[in-house]
Amino acid sequence: MKALMDKIAQRTAKVAVIGQGYVGLPLGLVFCEAGLEVLGLDVDPRKIRALERGESYIKHIGVDRVAAAVRSGRYRASTEFDRLPECDAVFICVPTPLGSHREPDNSYIHATGREIAKHLRREQLVVLESTTYPGTTDEELRPILETSGLRCGTDFLLAFSPEREDPGRKDFDTRTTPKLVGGVDEASTRAAAALYGLAMKTVVPVASARVAESAKLLENVFRSVNIALVNELKMIFDRMGIDVWEVIGAASTKPFGFMPFYPGPGLGGHCIPLDPFYLSWKAAENGEWARFIELAGEINTRMPRYVVEKVAEALNGASKSVKGSRLLVLGLAYKANVDDDRESPSYEIIELLRDRGADVDYCDPFFPVAKATRKHDLGLRSVPVDAEVFARYDAVVVATAHDAFKDGRLYRGVELVVDCRNVVAPAMDGSGGRRPRIVKA
Ligand SMILES: NC(=O)c1ccc[n+]([C@@H]2O[C@H](COP(=O)([O-])OP(=O)(O)OC[C@H]3O[C@@H](n4cnc5c(N)ncnc54)[C@H](O)[C@@H]3O)[C@@H](O)[C@H]2O)c1
Repeated sequence: MKALMDKIAQRTAKVAVIGQGYVGLPLGLVFCEAGLEVLGLDVDPRKIRALERGESYIKHIGVDRVAAAVRSGRYRASTEFDRLPECDAVFICVPTPLGSHREPDNSYIHATGREIAKHLRREQLVVLESTTYPGTTDEELRPILETSGLRCGTDFLLAFSPEREDPGRKDFDTRTTPKLVGGVDEASTRAAAALYGLAMKTVVPVASARVAESAKLLENVFRSVNIALVNELKMIFDRMGIDVWEVIGAASTKPFGFMPFYPGPGLGGHCIPLDPFYLSWKAAENGEWARFIELAGEINTRMPRYVVEKVAEALNGASKSVKGSRLLVLGLAYKANVDDDRESPSYEIIELLRDRGADVDYCDPFFPVAKATRKHDLGLRSVPVDAEVFARYDAVVVATAHDAFKDGRLYRGVELVVDCRNVVAPAMDGSGGRRPRIVKA
């Protein structure tokens, strides 16, 4: 692999990134910003056209970065996979969703592997970044790539490196988050680590692709289980008349041995609601039950129904029923201040409230229109962030803690707020009374 290693050492290696989504686009930009030539490939021509014009279709990935990359001449977006042989390294950043029975769907990885195999040449490095269960790189991707007639280890190299993007985060980004790299053999680890080292601040080589795949799942299972724990405690403490947010605040004063996690209306995003089930599925294949993962999944997926129950209870307290009430859900995004609504619990909350006969609107400045997705089609447009508008509803449900929703004056005229994010503080209404009535959910 001398030619490949020389190009990496001389910083002349050219990289292809397959999948220009939330993970692949920033990865391509980071390599481009490090001075490498980058070919961003995707099957979606609309995304490619936008990128070719230098436009970012993901808000938190700055338009200026995409425009600068295109202007530099080092970044090209394309749908032409037959350009792969131009590249020395190929990164795979395609989706890994769950099927309707929560089973892993690696079909995008397989399809991409078959596409690469058609164009694979000697002295190329292939790196999988899509989250998946241990063994995918070695047992599934490698044989697909070897249908090219080339042999892994002698003709081409293969590694796994998990993406650790946290959309909207300011203190760590793609470049500064330590990058785990595990190859299917030592040469693959070395080459992938050297290549990432040109663009990333810290590269952490690990023993194998399997360890790197498993580490990513451990990170996400850790979050899922801890979020489930606080969601369960939220329901228990609520019955006891104790505010879980105050409890977490109090426990967080311990300077060691405690890490705060916060409850919410349910899990969202591309990772935490999905990835743990990749591991539980693989565990079953090996005769083991991943009980923590299953239990956390059960508790977390129940949260939207818990929120709807709290809304019903709260309306009941005002002698109103869900049926016929006008309700406003704040936030379609799954987390604060991002334009990412994948797996957002807000959709399920809105649909469940509608099923009970409520007239539901939503407000989210990041989503002026609720686009139809594979699972949801709300047919709604966002109402404006406006106190007068909010006051028209029987209740406002805070599902996402966008900064735009933190101004207490917005809720002046609202009678009832069901707050899943602890963002609304009670305020005096001018006549000595408190408005709105706030119920935490
Ligand atoms: N979004 C995150 O924060 C995050 C974080 C860590 C890991 N991941 C993992 O990274 C992977 C990608 O996730 P994402 O969030 O970037 O998804 P995404 O949906 O934003 O992007 C995937 C892109 O791949 C394209 N694509 C689909 N099939 C393709 C094919 N056969 N060939 C080329 N392109 C194809 C899609 O058009 C899309 O643009 C997943 O495995 C995910 O679990 C995501």
